Amino acid sequence: MGLRPSGAPAIMTTPTPAQTQPARGLHVITWGCQMNVYDSARMGDVLRPLGYQPVDAPDNADMIILNTCHIRDRAAEKVFSELGRLRLVKEARKACGQNTIIAVAGCVAQAEGQEILARAPYVDIVLGPQTYHRLPEMVARAARAGGAVIETDFPAEQKFDFLPDTQAPQTPGNYTAFLTIQEGCDKFCSFCVVPYTRGAESSRNVTSVLAEARRMAASGVRDISLLGQNVNAYHGEGPDGTIWNLAKLAYALAEIPGLSRIRYTTSHPRDMDGALIAAHRDLPQLMPFLHLPVQSGSDRILRAMNRGHTADEYRDIVRRLREARPDMALSSDFIVGHPGETDEDFEATMQLVRDIGFALAYSFKYSPRPGTPAAGAGMQVPEDVKDARLQALQHLLRTQQDAFNATLVGRSVPVLFTSRGRKPGQITGRSPWLQPIHVTGPESLIGQELCVHVTERLTNSLGGVLEERKVYA
Ligand code: SAH
Ligand code: SF4
Ligand code: F3S
Repeated sequence: MGLRPSGAPAIMTTPTPAQTQPARGLHVITWGCQMNVYDSARMGDVLRPLGYQPVDAPDNADMIILNTCHIRDRAAEKVFSELGRLRLVKEARKACGQNTIIAVAGCVAQAEGQEILARAPYVDIVLGPQTYHRLPEMVARAARAGGAVIETDFPAEQKFDFLPDTQAPQTPGNYTAFLTIQEGCDKFCSFCVVPYTRGAESSRNVTSVLAEARRMAASGVRDISLLGQNVNAYHGEGPDGTIWNLAKLAYALAEIPGLSRIRYTTSHPRDMDGALIAAHRDLPQLMPFLHLPVQSGSDRILRAMNRGHTADEYRDIVRRLREARPDMALSSDFIVGHPGETDEDFEATMQLVRDIGFALAYSFKYSPRPGTPAAGAGMQVPEDVKDARLQALQHLLRTQQDAFNATLVGRSVPVLFTSRGRKPGQITGRSPWLQPIHVTGPESLIGQELCVHVTERLTNSLGGVLEERKVYA
């Protein structure tokens, strides 16, 4: 599974079908960021003791979970249209005497739970992201009462203290995994719903993070991505009773045998401190590829967005990161057309992009989110202006991405092989910078990290030939 910043275009995930005929089928549809992907896996873990096993089609499912995202656009409308489809599945199954529980989870559930129950009364469970550990109880209540169950309060207990151990990454063949270490956000950027849907910032304790990472490594995971809405604001309680920051956690994770690649996403520029930059200098396991959203290159707009830093401060962070780790490549998120953005502001964004040179980036048109400060602000930017700015920005970013990929051609790059390739006889892996790399080679190499001589740049990937030497020989 590729690593995408939170909020990148919606994706669907379907868990691997169980080997044996499942007692009860569970189908999970996931939209949104990696945290939702991780959460979907954890909901599967929670439901497994109740006999639920993944199935790959809703028609075979006794329970369907729609894990939703609210970050942009007509998120709620998309949910209702999917629910309309699931309603037909539920009715068809009912005609055959089969019951189907429909649950709506994630950020739309949190933001619009009541509305969902009003408009889609066939939904059985609505649950916010902080209540997944209570899912078995909700399933029981839904079955007993035969009415809808809604859980969108932010509970006092931390769900991580109640969730069972992760099961999904223990599946053989998973060499990459996500691990949520921090959730929620207290930063309240003008445009963003996350503080309202995910609640206040909170960090998981160090012991539980390290235990999960060790389990993952023992089951074969080599490349781990620590997740959080503000992952570098991590401040978890350590075994010694002190508070650990992300840098300290990274040094401890780097001690775990087998974990050769450590990543974290999404970071906020404000929390990119000296200790974390130094960790990039000291730890070869910390991958030289950082997703550091900047949103805009105009100080005026950054202020209006409540981002808490200037464009030059961002430039300075990048300079220090590259000093610490010369092969560091940057990825970012941008919003065009935030209320008040002028042509001059937009040009400042283009200039920042030219100055930094991004390896990858996601850019979006500003989308007013109900209840956020920017949605009610004056000086909304017309749609056609947003379109034109987005096109110009994406063109520049695409050129930079191609240029970055081209720099790897002719070089030797360590590749962690994760799967068969698309063509017969090929295997595919990921570089430290997350580009997929295809080579001709035996499937027995899947799971290994080997050097590849890159020979060609394809649209969104690279091709190469295997070298003799191992990465950490
Ligand atoms: N915590 C991260 C971002 C999480 S949201 C950070 O602070 O950078 C993921 C991305 O979605 C954001 O970086 C932003 O570029 C985009 N986004 C969020 N709200 C948006 C909105 N209302 N309109 C358009 N894009 C938005
Ligand atoms: Fe949203 Fe800003 Fe928090 Fe990121 S830091 S999740 S953009 S409020
Ligand atoms: Fe979307 Fe919620 Fe993630 S709004 S981006 S699923 S935190």
